[in-house]
Amino acid sequence: MNTTCPSAGNSPAFIDWMALVQGRIEAALARFLPPQEAIPGRLHQAMRYSCLNGGKRIRPLLAFAAGELTGASAEKLEVVSCAVEMIHAYSLVHDDLPCMDNDVLRRGRPTCHVEFGEATALLVGDSLQALAFELLAREKLGEPSVQIEMLRLLTHASGSLGMAGGQAIDLDAVGRELELPELELMHALKTGALIRAAVMLGALCGTPLSGEERNALDRFAKRAGLLFQVVDDILDCTASTATLGKTAGKDSAADKPTYVGLMGLEQARSFADELRKQALDALGVFGDRAHRLVEISDFITHRKF
Ligand code: IPE
Ligand code: IPE
Ligand code: MG
Ligand code: MG
Ligand code: MG
Repeated sequence: MNTTCPSAGNSPAFIDWMALVQGRIEAALARFLPPQEAIPGRLHQAMRYSCLNGGKRIRPLLAFAAGELTGASAEKLEVVSCAVEMIHAYSLVHDDLPCMDNDVLRRGRPTCHVEFGEATALLVGDSLQALAFELLAREKLGEPSVQIEMLRLLTHASGSLGMAGGQAIDLDAVGRELELPELELMHALKTGALIRAAVMLGALCGTPLSGEERNALDRFAKRAGLLFQVVDDILDCTASTATLGKTAGKDSAADKPTYVGLMGLEQARSFADELRKQALDALGVFGDRAHRLVEISDFITHRKF
């Protein structure tokens, strides 16, 4: 891959571009994570187990695609992508714990706590979260004010008004019927917040967007984030465990509030389509420069796992 992002005219097909970014992220994560020989070895082994060899890397793909809007360098995009992906991996390790979703399978392998024990899984989450913020503070990504803005965005997206807050609503809602606005808030926080952060951090790696462009990109990111979790809900009840690499049918078994539960499968599918359209509408202001974001929206909507 070039060190700068290619423009629409001469860029590779989506599937090849996706594989390039995924390969790049795998290598960067392997580099940024402490080696498993470093003491405490078992914790570092579990951190590497939870971050490497799996995952669609949707958030990095979104960051790289948003970076194309601002001419960001791939080196900077790699750093912000790894920071977001570490927060995401930590959220999955904790999400799978017995006190949360109690899942034994993740990315086709035993979950972190099954493989390493609950206490280590807890510490994996703590350590990945800290390392994500260390990366944003330590690596050279732009003016200090830009790096502080990046840190502000990712910390906010991870905390009680973002991902962790969404997870709290999710746990509190088990066995209860949520109204649509509550369900949307839960999804927007537990999954949407990190996706939104990935998009905005990717854009911040390049030349600044105008206020209007920034608002449009944020509108896109909000719709794409919600779309991602609606499709996750749909896949939970339509795809197999083998295809998903995580236990299928968990949501209804655990009486989780989901879009499928609230509106039924067909309406949830129509809603996903509607969200995709709204996301694409928001990109209008960017014209061809947003072609990767358009392709990722289609991928998120039609993905099989
Ligand atoms: C799963 O996320 C959990 C949600 C936030 C819906 P992904 O579907 O992005 O998981 P990986 O990273 O590809 O395994
Ligand atoms: C997970 O949502 C959201 C976060 C990890 C923040 P889910 O509980 O639906 O994710 P899966 O289905 O286990 O991947
Ligand atoms: Mg969950
Ligand atoms: Mg879960
Ligand atoms: Mg799910």
